[in-house]
Amino acid sequence: MEVRIEDLVKRFDDVIAVNKVNATFESGKLIALLGPSGCGKSTMLNMLSGIMPVTEGKIYFDDRDVTMLSPDKREVGLVFQNYALYPHMSVLENICFPLKIKRVPKAERIEKAKEYARMVHIDDYLDRLPKELSGGQQQRVAIARALVKQPKLLLLDEPLSNLDAKLRVEMREEIRRIQRESGVTTVFVTHDQEEATSISDYIMLMKLGVKQQFAKTRNLYNDPANLFVADFIGNPTINQLHGIYEKGNFRPDAYENAIPIGRYQIEDGSRVVFASRPESVIVEKKNGKTVMEVEETYVSGKDTLCVLKAGDGRLRAYVDNDSAPQEKDLVSVSFRDRGVFVFNEESGERYYE
Ligand SMILES: Nc1ncnc2c1ncn2[C@@H]1O[C@H](COP(=O)(O)OP(=O)(O)OP(=O)(O)O)[C@@H](O)[C@H]1O
Ligand SMILES: [Mg+2]
Repeated sequence: MEVRIEDLVKRFDDVIAVNKVNATFESGKLIALLGPSGCGKSTMLNMLSGIMPVTEGKIYFDDRDVTMLSPDKREVGLVFQNYALYPHMSVLENICFPLKIKRVPKAERIEKAKEYARMVHIDDYLDRLPKELSGGQQQRVAIARALVKQPKLLLLDEPLSNLDAKLRVEMREEIRRIQRESGVTTVFVTHDQEEATSISDYIMLMKLGVKQQFAKTRNLYNDPANLFVADFIGNPTINQLHGIYEKGNFRPDAYENAIPIGRYQIEDGSRVVFASRPESVIVEKKNGKTVMEVEETYVSGKDTLCVLKAGDGRLRAYVDNDSAPQEKDLVSVSFRDRGVFVFNEESGERYYE
């Protein structure tokens, strides 16, 4: 089922939690709602589920206007951070429960519950109580319970936050698999950009209730709409130098030499942020071009990162481990075309070539 929101607004007294958001969530896709704490992710999810009324705007499920429809009529499955399982019921009874409410006959609901228990790989634990399960297993039960009603939309609000780091990575792959197998349109809330980029088809990145960018997941990294997006997505964080744009050159505040960056549609003398992904910085033997000093070189997992001093600014670059420059070396620095962006310093708006 396709979900469409039009000029969606949620106001709490003087706080605008969601501010005129428009988007279409394509049927069968996994959409991550991403952004820092307080940006309006849960508020958005709660409006989609119907448990929170909207202040303004419309929500459509396919072509049906559901803005005023009560939660029980929306055919939505919900999973929260705290698994909220019924503590005195077994795994099987927990998963069956939504069907019991719908008065599905017993044999049929047990069969359905077992089918979804298999899908989430919890079928070996059907007789256990929630307290006899690990956090990851409990979350599998919560997901099966949400799916057993065969919802048209699955909404997950930070479902992995209570799990430890390793299990979180494992479970996000599981959620991806379960989503693919069930084919249900899914909205997944997280504040963790790595979690969002690793599982979603699309990301909507929000800041203070305002949509910053809604695009295919890789496009937020490769083609960020503004400085906030460029900075939020990516680890290590995108390099940022402040300075002035002039005739195809960038003059950093903190560094004496101009860096040639090509022609942008920017008035000469404008203050800009020159941003570069660490894999877009080319570090070579000193050859007369933009020279910088190496502050340190370190190994991070499979990668070797070189930190360069640009005056009192810093640039991080991936380098080849075998020929990595060392502390205090002078090197020449240039930039690839890809992964390099220029933004208005004040507004964060992106400039194009
Ligand atoms: N019931 C409420 N009454 C008043 N203000 C609220 C209410 N619920 C949320 N807010 C405010 O709305 C804004 C968005 O809150 P929301 O819970 O949607 O953020 P979030 O992105 O889910 O954050 P987090 O990552 O911390 O869960 C915040 O400023 C919050 O304080
Ligand atoms: Mg929240």
